[in-house]
Amino acid sequence: MPTSRARKIIIDTDPGQDDAIAILAALGRPDALDVLAITTVGGNVPLERTTENALMMVELANRTEVPVHAGCAEPADRALVTAEYVHGPTGINGADRPTPTTAVAESHAVDAIIETLETADDEGVTLCVLGPLTNIGAVLERRPDLTPKIAELVLMGGGHFEGGNVTPSAEFNIYVDPTAAATVFASGVPLVMMPLDVTHKALTSPERIAAFRALGTEAGASAAGMLDFFERFDIDRYGSTGGPLHDPCVIAYLLEPEIFSGRHCNVEVETQSELTMGATVIDWWGATDRAANCLVMNDLDADRFYALLVDAIARL
Ligand code: RIB
Ligand code: CA
Repeated sequence: MPTSRARKIIIDTDPGQDDAIAILAALGRPDALDVLAITTVGGNVPLERTTENALMMVELANRTEVPVHAGCAEPADRALVTAEYVHGPTGINGADRPTPTTAVAESHAVDAIIETLETADDEGVTLCVLGPLTNIGAVLERRPDLTPKIAELVLMGGGHFEGGNVTPSAEFNIYVDPTAAATVFASGVPLVMMPLDVTHKALTSPERIAAFRALGTEAGASAAGMLDFFERFDIDRYGSTGGPLHDPCVIAYLLEPEIFSGRHCNVEVETQSELTMGATVIDWWGATDRAANCLVMNDLDADRFYALLVDAIARL
């Protein structure tokens, strides 16, 4: 169970194999992370499936005391775009887990996040955002007064030197809900961003996947099975040697921030042009006088990253 010195976090997510690995890693480290809630959003697959997948992961981690709240099924101002072509029809193909029996929590994710922030102590709560920012944008729109209770918001999303992965200029999480993303980047909340520029350096490999399987546990086998399925899309698309393990970068940053490196930049989101909709305009070279609003990561120690994830999942 979480220790008193553990950092209080909420994981907002659209599982997705990479989300699932991030959830397992977070639940494997109650010494460092107190997961107050998992909140789901429509993204990689529709909300019903992302919610079932999150329930599957808390059961696999034997941490069913962590509530899973279902959130927004789609953005407020556009239709949902999903990514079954990457993640498979279930969203976590390869997990090979039984249908969960744990009930989803009653309150909507947005209400749950608001209530958690309202009652948080002065240290606040860290938001770990692994999917489209629809839920978080709704929280900030409804209750901007609660931003002081957000200790930090660490998100996977966007891209700069790496461009996009759903259009030439936009990464999936931002592309699905650019309006919500723009609200987050304009909020003044302390932001840490894990764009494709860093996640594309966190590639799976046969050896790295084998390390999960070698744990000899159900969680290790499920993690390896998900990664075997997940990596094929990026290998085919980019000709890379493995798949980028995007979302666990968020959890790894909370556990060992020194694994990552980057710089404070101004980041804004394109919400008008259809051609570049959802692009994150990262002023990496300080070409404008726009104030820095985000710590943008662009590199990591990939070996330490994978060792951290295997160790966390080994503890489940
Ligand atoms: O572009 C990668 C991101 O989109 C990851 O969070 C993945 O899970 C999908 O949500
Ligand atoms: Ca995700």
